[in-house]
Amino acid sequence: MNEIDEIFAREPIPAHILERMEQCRKRRMIVPDERLIKRPSHIEGIRASSRINTGVLDEVAKHIKAGMTTQDIDDIVREYTNSHGAVCAPYHFEGYPKSVCTSINDEVCHGIPSRLRKLHDGDIVNVDVSTIYNGYYSDASRMFMIGEVSPQRKRLVEETKRCLEIGMEAAQPWNTVGDIGYAISKYARSRGYSVVRELGGHGVGLEFHEDPFVAHIGRKHTGMVLVPGMIITIEPMINAGRAGVVLDPYNDWTVSTADGSDSAQWEHSILITETGNEILTY
Ligand code: MF3
Ligand code: CO
Repeated sequence: MNEIDEIFAREPIPAHILERMEQCRKRRMIVPDERLIKRPSHIEGIRASSRINTGVLDEVAKHIKAGMTTQDIDDIVREYTNSHGAVCAPYHFEGYPKSVCTSINDEVCHGIPSRLRKLHDGDIVNVDVSTIYNGYYSDASRMFMIGEVSPQRKRLVEETKRCLEIGMEAAQPWNTVGDIGYAISKYARSRGYSVVRELGGHGVGLEFHEDPFVAHIGRKHTGMVLVPGMIITIEPMINAGRAGVVLDPYNDWTVSTADGSDSAQWEHSILITETGNEILTY
């Protein structure tokens, strides 16, 4: 047995939580598999991974500026991560060629760093960092505004951050995944924005992408129930224009808005606790 499985065997889910899961099951709610409920030692490992992941983003924040290329960001991310004894999760993940995702302006996500792509004054760029440390995964992203950014872009970036915060407020124990998407989409639409539907958050920690899929649209009281010990990402992709997206046919990774409008994204990995939730990627 590996260490992760030993922890599952050694550290059981508390009886009162199992009882409450059983009640949910009887009410026909979707209840997570027990392997989606992290145990204290898993959580410590994911916490340590998340601390490095946050350090990477802080390091990017220190250096990012107009004139640098997205490959320069990739270099910063890889060097900081490796020098802290960790590995970049995106590298060679399902064939992904780089160590980080850098998505500029109308790019929604999975922008691939390149020596040919410079950051310009007025750009908004998402840097999406995912780390593996001692076998444990963490995942977070931030927006960076390069130089003097238009008020429209600034508002999109700030309101998208608010969407993440509103999603996290909805991610209370014994709520459902649908409550998160409902809250985010309601707010985003009230601000005149649209929500990307094709991609979403996910369970994270023991693997890069675990169940559940965390849509940023949804209906209240639907989808998987949020049980203390679950760790999920919330990572709304919010478009200034229409919700539709297109996949780059040349690299098969980069997602952009179909209408060419700007898009922003912020992401945290959060632990569902018995009293609320905790941001691991601060
Ligand atoms: N970090 C992204 C996420 O939030 C996943 C990127 S996968 C990659 O899930 F291979 F494109 F890096
Ligand atoms: Co993610």
